[in-house]
Amino acid sequence: MAEGYEGWDEYAPFYDWENARTLGRRDVPFWTKLALETAGPMLELGCGTGRIAVPLGKARKGIIGIDRSEEMLTRARRRLARNKLARRLTLIRGDIRHLPFPAGTFGAVIAPYGILQSLIRERDLAATLTAVHGALRPGGTFGLELVADLPSWEEYRKRISLKGWKGRKGGAHVTLVETVRQDRARRLTIFDQEFTERRGRKRRTCRFALTFRTLTVPQMVRRLEKAGFEVRALLGDYQGGPWDKRAEVWMILAQRPVS
Ligand SMILES: C[S@@+](CC[C@H](N)C(=O)[O-])C[C@H]1O[C@@H](n2cnc3c(N)ncnc32)[C@H](O)[C@@H]1O
Repeated sequence: MAEGYEGWDEYAPFYDWENARTLGRRDVPFWTKLALETAGPMLELGCGTGRIAVPLGKARKGIIGIDRSEEMLTRARRRLARNKLARRLTLIRGDIRHLPFPAGTFGAVIAPYGILQSLIRERDLAATLTAVHGALRPGGTFGLELVADLPSWEEYRKRISLKGWKGRKGGAHVTLVETVRQDRARRLTIFDQEFTERRGRKRRTCRFALTFRTLTVPQMVRRLEKAGFEVRALLGDYQGGPWDKRAEVWMILAQRPVS
């Protein structure tokens, strides 16, 4: 069984290209508002290429991003430098199951865009929730998003799911051919990705798989409570509307209790 942290180094050159055509920046104002309402340092788990961490660093200082993939972080560091955010945003290579921060450091920790679903074993999720609880100061907020309803994703084989140009004039033409598999026994959804980049006559194909765990909102709520959090809100959109089972966005706001 593949690990949930695998595949991201290979995905890194294509992540922003694909993301600009799917989620884009729709979730960024939500996390920015939370950053502006938070006192003290704020940590993003799985900050990737800095899609969220960089706008947060523009909004305020004391933002820290942690990620395990060196290739994703390389892109985030470039963004940080381009935006001159060295004093406001710190990027750290590390694993979210073992957070390298003193107890009670953060006013908020966020886990956007399904990062907790990359923890495909129960013990990895439990270790991460315990680590987040410890890294938050009492009263601090833990905000997370689950990718909605992964088990209902239709399975398909080798479908062209995106194509277009990457980079400015003279860039590459990219095609993404995707296979989606459901491993219902293990409650996993696996995306086999095949990116082909064409520059003139040169052609390069990059293949990898990303594995995500199926988790519903009630299942995550139970795990948060077991780890000592109080769940404050279930949200069904990025404007703060209420969650229900059919919502397209699945967000949870929890708190480390004050005592
Ligand atoms: C979906 S991307 C999200 C990136 C960014 N938060 C965003 O919204 O664009 C998930 C990120 O989590 C990272 N990741 C996965 N498992 C991890 C782990 N155990 N520890 C640290 N980072 C991890 C991956 O390397 C990847 O960059």
